[in-house]
Amino acid sequence: MGSKDISKIMTKVLIVFFAFVVIAIGIALFINRDRLPSQDLSEERCEQNNAQYLNSELSVEERVDDLLGRMNEWEKIGQMVLVEKNSIRNLEDIQRYNIGALLSGGGAGPKRNNEPLSWLEMINDFQAETKKTCLKIPLLYGIDAVHGHANVLGATIFPHFIGLGATNDADLVRRVAEATAEEMAATGIYWNFAPNLDVAKDIRWGKTYETFGSDTARVSRLGEAYLHGLQDSSTDYYQVLANPKHFIGGGSMQYGTSRNKDFKVEEGNFTLNEEELRRVHLVPFANAVDEGARVIMVGTASWNGTINAANSRLLTEILKEELGFTGFVVSDWYGVYQVAPTRYESLVTTINAGIDMVMTPFEYKDFMSNMQTAIANGDISQERLDDAVRRILRVKFEAGLFDRPEATVEGLSVIGSEKHHAIALEAVRKSQVLLKNTNAALPISASAKKIIVSGSSANNLGRQAGGWTSEWQGIDGDTSITGTTILEGIKSVVSEHTSVEYNQNGDFADGSPLADVGIVVVGEKPYAEGWGDNPNPKLSEEDLLAIKKTKTKSNKLVVIIVAGRPLDISAYSADWDAVVASWLPGAFGGGVADVLFGIYPFTGVLPIGWDI
Ligand code: BGC
Ligand code: BGC
Repeated sequence: MGSKDISKIMTKVLIVFFAFVVIAIGIALFINRDRLPSQDLSEERCEQNNAQYLNSELSVEERVDDLLGRMNEWEKIGQMVLVEKNSIRNLEDIQRYNIGALLSGGGAGPKRNNEPLSWLEMINDFQAETKKTCLKIPLLYGIDAVHGHANVLGATIFPHFIGLGATNDADLVRRVAEATAEEMAATGIYWNFAPNLDVAKDIRWGKTYETFGSDTARVSRLGEAYLHGLQDSSTDYYQVLANPKHFIGGGSMQYGTSRNKDFKVEEGNFTLNEEELRRVHLVPFANAVDEGARVIMVGTASWNGTINAANSRLLTEILKEELGFTGFVVSDWYGVYQVAPTRYESLVTTINAGIDMVMTPFEYKDFMSNMQTAIANGDISQERLDDAVRRILRVKFEAGLFDRPEATVEGLSVIGSEKHHAIALEAVRKSQVLLKNTNAALPISASAKKIIVSGSSANNLGRQAGGWTSEWQGIDGDTSITGTTILEGIKSVVSEHTSVEYNQNGDFADGSPLADVGIVVVGEKPYAEGWGDNPNPKLSEEDLLAIKKTKTKSNKLVVIIVAGRPLDISAYSADWDAVVASWLPGAFGGGVADVLFGIYPFTGVLPIGWDI
């Protein structure tokens, strides 16, 4: 065979090979094609100019009845899905699938940048897609603005809930929520995945700082205040929807029971009898329902072995029937898909148990087709479908989504306003808890001659802010936050004759005299959720060393702990003159300095047990 023949054969082989590849791709595309049902987009059905549901003079129930009566099954199913916005590759999918709700996961902002304007434009672009659908049902857009609208550049960053718990000041908590809601609404977002009403019983849990602490009554009272702060408004609709979470019992999950191999507590199990569950964990939720909660998020905990999202006793019998909850129940991140081996079975089980909206949060196409099948098979009844959709639509009308004017550029000026900063600063001051004060170490005199400052959290806004800031897990040393570090706060309150020297590691020049006071600001690196589960929350070696070095260079030693939970300091604290629990104060470190120097008194009270 000549080389010509060989090359001919090779060419043929290549042609056959490419043809095969092309056919294979074609088959794959055919199998995975979107099986969209043909939608009746006729003018007759979609011309809604005189539709009753658009008439804001009618009652919410009349509007819901009218709208529900116009919807086909595909449109109804679309209302039940909550999709993470980064899973929407093609904006058009919002109309093709009639998607009813989107969320930003932690840190998931606009593609362009994190400026408020980009957020506003992003939300308005999403909403614009729904206007192309037949019934033009607005999207509900949700976000974790759990300590301010902290995904957005320049937003006011408040202390995390554990610090608000320490303030024990319901009026203040209400104002924090109100300010948060104003900043959210400015970007066109009307649904906050807050307040967290978990009652934290184990500080090893990474979500401890997201709670108001371990006392049921306090969680209930502050949760109520927060809910009103978000929702109350001078108009007929809510300012922003509150979303008590995580129903229920997560604060009692046992260490080591997590279903997730990366976690210890989160996604774990708790063992309680129903009477205890009601006494410790149900009270704040029952109260929130009485006070007007319209959305409840079900967490990922299991109660005596059953995942909450699959528990009809909890969701239907107790929450909906006994407590009379008429809003909708939303599942947590990937929460329903953990209950059974297949997504189909998971959906059937959890929706029948009482979940109304599913935070998929990714595979919405698959959700839509599984739901169609489940309804066709009679595994999910028409009544259950209608009940879920009715609840969701009811809340959409109540939230004013069909009536309220679109957020505008002019409104963005409330973001990071002086007024909101002042509320945040007040919250920081009131959240500081004095754990120990000997040798009259505190308050520090503003005219002290020499103050030395050290520690990993002294000059670090990322650590002050913690998780759920800029990113889901927060950012150690985040430079995008507008605010003051504790070090800057100290510098701004001392007299002009005071020298303030800072060295993170406590490496100060030898020499006398000793500093009047050494202040060491130590603490945790930012974290969130299961990634923050920790068998033994304690100080780092680096911080302990900074404390040791600073002590030798100062007359009195004050240790400030910036952490989302109590840290074990029992082996060391006897050597320190004063100890302050700062929690995760957020962007305004000046509030810490204000109480250290006695400009304001310490009024914070422990939200959770801490033996020092
Ligand atoms: C958390 C919720 C949060 C949701 C959306 C979940 O992992 O448990 O608290 O609201 O994600 O970000
Ligand atoms: C998201 C969070 C969510 C978490 C749950 C993250 O990727 O950003 O919002 O709570 O996943 O695992």
